[in-house]
Amino acid sequence: MIWIYPVLLMFLIPSNFLAALGVSLLNSCNITRQRFALEDLFVQTGGKNWINRTGWTPSWTGYSTAGSCATTLGPPLPDHCCWFGIQCCAASTCPFNSNNSTSGNIVCDCDQDGLVVSLSLGMNNLSGQAFRTSAGTVEFMSNWTIQAALGCSLVNLDLHQNLLTGPLPADLLALTALQALSLADNKMTGMLPSSVAGMSALTYLDLSWNRFEGTISSQFCGGIIGGTTTDHYGNLSSGAASPASSGIVYMHLGNNQLSGSLNLTLCSKLVVFDVTNNGMSGYIPPMLSTSPLLVANMASNAFKNLMYGRHVNQMNMAFNNLTGQLPVELSALVSLSSINLAENNCSGTLPVSLMSLGSLSSVEMADNWITGTIPLEIGKAKSLSYLDLSNNSLTGSLPNSILDVMASYGTLLDLRLNYMSCCGRGFQHDPTYSVVSYLSYNYSAPPLPPGLTFSTHLRPITFTPTAPNTTYASNLGDTTYYPGMR
Ligand SMILES: *[C@@H]1O[C@H](CO)[C@@H](O)[C@H](O)[C@H]1NC(C)=O
Ligand SMILES: *[C@@H]1O[C@H](CO)[C@@H](O)[C@H](O)[C@H]1NC(C)=O
Ligand SMILES: *[C@@H]1O[C@H](CO)[C@@H](O)[C@H](O)[C@H]1NC(C)=O
Ligand SMILES: *[C@@H]1O[C@H](CO)[C@@H](O)[C@H](O)[C@H]1NC(C)=O
Ligand SMILES: *[C@@H]1O[C@H](CO)[C@@H](O)[C@H](O)[C@H]1NC(C)=O
Ligand SMILES: *[C@@H]1O[C@H](CO)[C@@H](O)[C@H](O)[C@H]1NC(C)=O
Ligand SMILES: *[C@@H]1O[C@H](CO)[C@@H](O)[C@H](O)[C@H]1NC(C)=O
Ligand SMILES: *[C@@H]1O[C@H](CO)[C@@H](O)[C@H](O)[C@H]1NC(C)=O
Ligand SMILES: *[C@@H]1O[C@H](CO)[C@@H](O)[C@H](O)[C@H]1NC(C)=O
Ligand SMILES: *[C@@H]1O[C@H](CO)[C@@H](O)[C@H](O)[C@H]1NC(C)=O
Ligand SMILES: *[C@@H]1O[C@H](CO)[C@@H](O)[C@H](O)[C@H]1NC(C)=O
Ligand SMILES: *[C@@H]1O[C@H](CO)[C@@H](O)[C@H](O)[C@H]1NC(C)=O
Repeated sequence: MIWIYPVLLMFLIPSNFLAALGVSLLNSCNITRQRFALEDLFVQTGGKNWINRTGWTPSWTGYSTAGSCATTLGPPLPDHCCWFGIQCCAASTCPFNSNNSTSGNIVCDCDQDGLVVSLSLGMNNLSGQAFRTSAGTVEFMSNWTIQAALGCSLVNLDLHQNLLTGPLPADLLALTALQALSLADNKMTGMLPSSVAGMSALTYLDLSWNRFEGTISSQFCGGIIGGTTTDHYGNLSSGAASPASSGIVYMHLGNNQLSGSLNLTLCSKLVVFDVTNNGMSGYIPPMLSTSPLLVANMASNAFKNLMYGRHVNQMNMAFNNLTGQLPVELSALVSLSSINLAENNCSGTLPVSLMSLGSLSSVEMADNWITGTIPLEIGKAKSLSYLDLSNNSLTGSLPNSILDVMASYGTLLDLRLNYMSCCGRGFQHDPTYSVVSYLSYNYSAPPLPPGLTFSTHLRPITFTPTAPNTTYASNLGDTTYYPGMR
């Protein structure tokens, strides 16, 4: 089968032919240009290898008003609206937005029928470059790229999990109506744009699992911040204006090759942020006190402090470069549910205010240098079901109040490799550990609270009398040399 390259055909079409079709090149939203850009995308991305290419045509057939895409609510849509992965809006309806499922200003406000609002070709074996860049193409083409031709109406662009290469186009910002962009899990390269502020409707951005490089500019979300400084908790100094900013709500940039420091103070709508597994470093300024940030997944970088946001609920900063005392900001994260600071270099004691939080469900702080005891107030952390403080320098005994929170089905408690009476590091045959741990071990302290026992094989453990049965996934210590085992 011969796959005809539409660009070549375009050169063969005399301009008076286009004029005869009523095509205005200057028209910002134009059905013919949209169809052409789609056909071009098909050829550019190896359409013949696509998994589903139902309806996509390899050759220029021109726009037919007698398209097959009938709607019950209006005149027929052009037939490319029926191709796999494409949704168009028709006069008074817009399938993509019918649920109010996306926010933003763009509803379907097409003046003409049949403009493309959604292009969804995830997991469809697209390869090559989806975005033609203006450079290197004939000038004529620059108004006919996906971003230029679909920009006026496209609300959703989803090309995730394909084999796409190449950089983001310089004129990405032409996608002014776009609310959701996912290019996740491809092989795209090049720098992040310095700003996405031109895409004023964008709320969802997923560029994870690619090979993007460069830094996340502090202007990435755009906006102007009037103030000079923010305090430790993100409060603006008096007299400062609040930022006018882009509305990105979900930002997924994990598993790329991003570097440099991070400053998201202008991302005032951000709720979910993920930059897991990049090469970012340095100190992060606190988010403004009004920031709605709930999720900060930032593991496996080299950050030196916490991402502070007043409402953060889930924070993962494992495998970073946090050092020194457990940060004071921790106590101010009053909505925290899940925190992971494992594999850092934190020291100091566990903040009582953190460990007694009613919202807290999961704490992972293994492999740090945390000292002191597990506070009695842990009994107030009623939601706690996962506590991993293994390989730290904790001392003392396990408070009875732990029974109030951890003595239930499916909880995990890992306190191995500490200096606690329950789970002494010193009972290992490691001379470097034994000196310290025998000194700090209190032989008079009860090894475990009453009612809590180890099984002979460490797990499961039994909580009595609260527990009717014995399957609890927990690790309290290395029992091989544990003297007080019952
Ligand atoms: C995906 O496309 C490549 C060429 O880019 C082809 O070799 C491969 O067979 C295709 N895979 C599937 C599942 O169609
Ligand atoms: C391919 O796309 C067409 C048009 O959207 C759809 O009807 C069909 O179910 C799809 N086929 C597969 C295997 O997903
Ligand atoms: C519309 O909302 C319903 C219920 O809230 C949900 O199940 C459905 O997936 C939504 N549809 C779209 C297209 O978002
Ligand atoms: C969508 O939102 C508009 C205004 O926000 C509201 O009037 C309308 O009832 C909503 N439609 C649905 C289906 O929820
Ligand atoms: C491209 O579009 C712009 C504005 O939309 C227009 O000024 C320019 O002449 C167009 N260029 C071509 C080659 O059509
Ligand atoms: C963060 O970025 C904003 C806006 O560019 C700037 O005003 C502020 O000084 C930056 N903060 C730091 C700590 O770099
Ligand atoms: C920051 O502002 C909040 C009110 O928005 C206030 O409750 C809090 O005490 C302030 N923090 C500091 C350190 O000034
Ligand atoms: C981590 O912090 C240490 C000490 O502050 C510093 O020497 C090191 O370069 C940092 N590592 C990275 C990857 O930034
Ligand atoms: C890690 O913490 C320990 C103890 O606080 C300190 O001696 C060491 O220098 C720290 N390492 C780095 C890389 O900061
Ligand atoms: C304990 O943590 C230290 C660093 O804090 C690490 O070097 C060591 O490998 C860890 N030990 C175990 C058994 O995980
Ligand atoms: C050791 O444990 C016993 C019993 O709980 C307690 O009375 C005593 O104060 C502890 N000693 C130290 C030094 O903590
Ligand atoms: C353990 O007890 C709970 C609560 O009585 C029960 O739902 C669960 O099935 C029991 N599990 C086993 C393995 O017996």
